[in-house]
Amino acid sequence: MVVHSLRIPWRLIILASLMLVTVLWSGCYPSNPQSTFDPAGRIAREQLTLFQIIFWTAAFVFVVVEGALIYAVFRFRKKAGQQPLPKQTHGNTPLEVTWTIIPALILVVIAVPTITTIFAQADAPEGEVVRVKAVAHQWWWEFNYPEVGVTTANELHIPINKPITLQLTSQDVIHSFWIPKLAGKTDMIPTRTNAMWFEAEEPGLFYGQCAEFCGTAHALMRFRVIAQSQAEFDAWVAAQQAPPAAPMAREFGLKGCTVCHTVNGPDAEGVQERRMDGFRQGQPQFPAPNLTHFATRDTLAAGLLERSDDNLRRWIQDPGEVKPGNRMGELAGAYHNANQSLSDADVAALVAYLQSLK
Ligand code: CUA
Repeated sequence: MVVHSLRIPWRLIILASLMLVTVLWSGCYPSNPQSTFDPAGRIAREQLTLFQIIFWTAAFVFVVVEGALIYAVFRFRKKAGQQPLPKQTHGNTPLEVTWTIIPALILVVIAVPTITTIFAQADAPEGEVVRVKAVAHQWWWEFNYPEVGVTTANELHIPINKPITLQLTSQDVIHSFWIPKLAGKTDMIPTRTNAMWFEAEEPGLFYGQCAEFCGTAHALMRFRVIAQSQAEFDAWVAAQQAPPAAPMAREFGLKGCTVCHTVNGPDAEGVQERRMDGFRQGQPQFPAPNLTHFATRDTLAAGLLERSDDNLRRWIQDPGEVKPGNRMGELAGAYHNANQSLSDADVAALVAYLQSLK
């Protein structure tokens, strides 16, 4: 049998390596909206510093250990005409003491800044803070500001240069709260409340993302953080506290939207009653985003789509097509079969109503 020698296509290997490096590098590039290498607040910056200390220490260990290994492999490989076994040695006290002490020192180098950072970040600084209770749902985010009585969804407004303290929990499964440029991940666990805090130093838009696999639409469970001046934040709070800008559209109640969604204000009377009626009739229900000031948000479907008439129409008509697996898609089927399907006129009325909720 003839065995052809396998020729290694070096050019291909180099090309593939370059492509891999490009992909990895572009993922970490600071201009990426979800890069952790471009912190915009104290918490994220301290976490990045800690990461760099550990990364470069590990890189140093890797180079030294792998370098020694490669050197040994080539330097002490079997040579032609060599005796069967080189001289064997056992035990070398100075060497063994050295390779115990050096790793211990390396661990100290890593442990000191790690423990310092953990303790420094544990509690929010004294003084005025903004408190937010964040509740994760499959697959959207609820944000409550208990001190000012505001509830919103998927867009977290915060003032700059002020600690934001978060109480994090979940309505259903485990999620994880993550704003790469502002703060590292914290788990959101049902029946338990986790705490974290962060601060933004400059106004801007920051992207958040669920960082724990939580089901079908996990990858589409996004949110936005809008960091603004104290005056802009106060104006936003005042706008959110106002009653809804329009009376509730007839279709909104008739088509089952109120089974899951809340719109505050006088029109909310009777909504709870209808909700309980539906529940007694065995209709499934899930808490869904509060829509009182829906039209003050820039996005819909947990940050997935820009808020526009077209996108809203698409979303109401077929939520399951826009965001596969989501609850509204699941329930729309149940309700529209139970009641009657949504006509184009119904959808148009709902779009107009929601867009009027400034
Ligand atoms: Cu929520 Cu992943």
